[in-house]
Amino acid sequence: MRFDKPAGDSVLADTKVIGKPVHRVDGPLKTTGTAPYAYERHDVAANQLVGWPVGAAIAKGKLKSVGTKKAEAAPGVVAVLTTLQFDRLPLSQWNTANLFGGDQIEHYHQAVALVVAETLETARAGAAMLEFDYAPDTEASFDLSKTAPTGDEQPLSDVGNFEKAYADAPVTIDVNYTTPAESHAMMEPHASIAAWDGDEVTLWTSNQMIQWDKMALATTLKTTPDKVRIDSPYIGGGFGSKLFLRADAVLAALGAKRTGKPVKVQLPRPMIFNNTTHRGLTEQHLKIGATQDGKIVAISHENKSNALPGGSSEKAPAPTQHFYATDNLYCINRTAEMHLPESNAMRAPGEASGLMALEAAMDELAEKLDMDPVELRIMNDAKVDPSNPNKTFSRRHFVECLRTGADRFGWSKRNRKPGDTREGAWLIGHGVAGAYRGAPAQASGAEVAIRPDGGVVVRTDMTDIGTGSYTILAQTAAEMLGVPVERVRVELGDSRYPVSSGSGGQFGAVSSTAGVYAACVALRKKIADELGKKHDDLTFADGAVHAGGSTTELKKLTRGGRELSAIDTMHFGDFRSEKYVVSTFGAHFIEARVHSLTGEVRLNRMLAVCDAGRILNPITARSQVIGAMTMGAGAALLEEMAVDHDRGFFVNHDLAGYEVPVHLDIPHQEVVFLDVLDPVSTPLKAKGVGELGICGVAAAIANAVNNATGIRVRDYPITLDKIVGKLPTI
Ligand code: MOS
Repeated sequence: MRFDKPAGDSVLADTKVIGKPVHRVDGPLKTTGTAPYAYERHDVAANQLVGWPVGAAIAKGKLKSVGTKKAEAAPGVVAVLTTLQFDRLPLSQWNTANLFGGDQIEHYHQAVALVVAETLETARAGAAMLEFDYAPDTEASFDLSKTAPTGDEQPLSDVGNFEKAYADAPVTIDVNYTTPAESHAMMEPHASIAAWDGDEVTLWTSNQMIQWDKMALATTLKTTPDKVRIDSPYIGGGFGSKLFLRADAVLAALGAKRTGKPVKVQLPRPMIFNNTTHRGLTEQHLKIGATQDGKIVAISHENKSNALPGGSSEKAPAPTQHFYATDNLYCINRTAEMHLPESNAMRAPGEASGLMALEAAMDELAEKLDMDPVELRIMNDAKVDPSNPNKTFSRRHFVECLRTGADRFGWSKRNRKPGDTREGAWLIGHGVAGAYRGAPAQASGAEVAIRPDGGVVVRTDMTDIGTGSYTILAQTAAEMLGVPVERVRVELGDSRYPVSSGSGGQFGAVSSTAGVYAACVALRKKIADELGKKHDDLTFADGAVHAGGSTTELKKLTRGGRELSAIDTMHFGDFRSEKYVVSTFGAHFIEARVHSLTGEVRLNRMLAVCDAGRILNPITARSQVIGAMTMGAGAALLEEMAVDHDRGFFVNHDLAGYEVPVHLDIPHQEVVFLDVLDPVSTPLKAKGVGELGICGVAAAIANAVNNATGIRVRDYPITLDKIVGKLPTI
């Protein structure tokens, strides 16, 4: 099926299941601890061995030798694999950092060995007996502030004449912001079990993108995709960290091949931070010019961010390209090639970091203009795409987000004067920020079948990374085929099923539901043919098909105990991006308190208002947004991977040193969804929301801290050491 034009008013106009607050269908499995996660799939293959991976102890250079004799002689050890025993393994288009093989070390904790043993303890003990001899390379770049960009970047946007408009502007701000490297810190570590059957390998793993993983593993193992099966039905969080093939899967496959037995490998938590990917560091420079009454006339957003040679960096100016109206816009992202681990996607890549700067700079501009920051944003709302004035937004309700939020939050009662509101020892502040995130959709396929008992089954390689995919796909099939949600079984994450969008870039929910919609339409047409009726004359309700006075129970449509099944893929036409900018919008409101003596920042209240088209399920969508708001609070106040500029690694590489918010850090959270549809986005008129929720949160917190104290912290995170010496005197 092709989605070639906006969905008509009649498409899913009056839904019974889609959009309703259906509880998670996988909830019982999750709450009883019985959802099978990759490392615990003891039942899928007998006689599993355990592999313990070892990461390089230098960031750049050569591994000269590995002494393996002691480890090989240790009790319980079955095999020792070292990177020197292999040529550098080829990488697919999705990978930058070396995964295994060869003597070249390109980043700290690059996988250099795997000890396979009968138990985890013997594998780990064996790994400790390996003797590595390195020749570190002294020519390496680990400090972003001292690393020049490659210099060949083109502007992302270059509209009008920024320099002239800025020079002529009566009010200007010129500010620099930095954001640190961040780790996804998902709960479930990267883990894989591999087993070979002849030349075919199966991976029970934890991965967001089944098809990419399959293709990438085939490339890296030098085989063909048809020899690779990936199975990843439950995933304990990803946030971008599991978009791509990683060392756990490669090492498990190599270990299983070497030993002839299934091998399981989990990346130990302290290895994840440097072995896998991170959100890159940014140095952002913003210049905004405005008229005296607050109309923006010029915006420039320049960013520098780290990447491995050949890799991609954090595209922080991305949101600025489309957010505020201006005739003069300049955005550029510069990549500094460095030898830190691989920077790559983390929740709302680009936007999350970029808005930490842009939305704080907007607050600075409002302060300079002596304007309310909500009104400044409303005044500068874009009607057409600032980067390409020929394009409009499919739907854009940003102003409504701001107004609704201001109303709910009690914004009118805010004291605009910084450092002027106290409650005992605490200074109270209120901050606002806008949220912007693109809303892409990707081709997505599914099989939908009527079972002999009249139930429905959905099969797709789509993943549920804790987001609610099982639930919203069950809702979609239930809606389309007229059965209760409980009668729909959803099977996910298996590469034998039709190829879906996978989970990433907040495209997963909207794309995969569109894919299930397409398969349901195909099945309904098949049923119409079987009944000798026209598809448009059928009604699906109460577990039956109704047409022209006759009723047929769904189970009567199956024969000989076999399912009646249809497969289709939703393809999204180019009209979406050719004519429109399809995006999500939001507004975040924060009340924070800052201790007047210690500088400690605490949050009192968080409110998000989201414009994301039809909300497929308000329960799962709310969970996405409050989780993302929590991650935004982490970015604002806690999260930072400290870089060792001499040795080139992230020092705080575990959850004791890399702090994420816990329950006590997060106060009252409220999420409001605007009741809107976006027919340009998908037939379901929905857009993603999982990444929108983090966008702008950190800036809203920074703005609240400024309102509380008069202190503008421009290097995130806002830790108390950056506040304590500057607090207003009592
Ligand atoms: Mo997302 S950062 O594409 O999982």
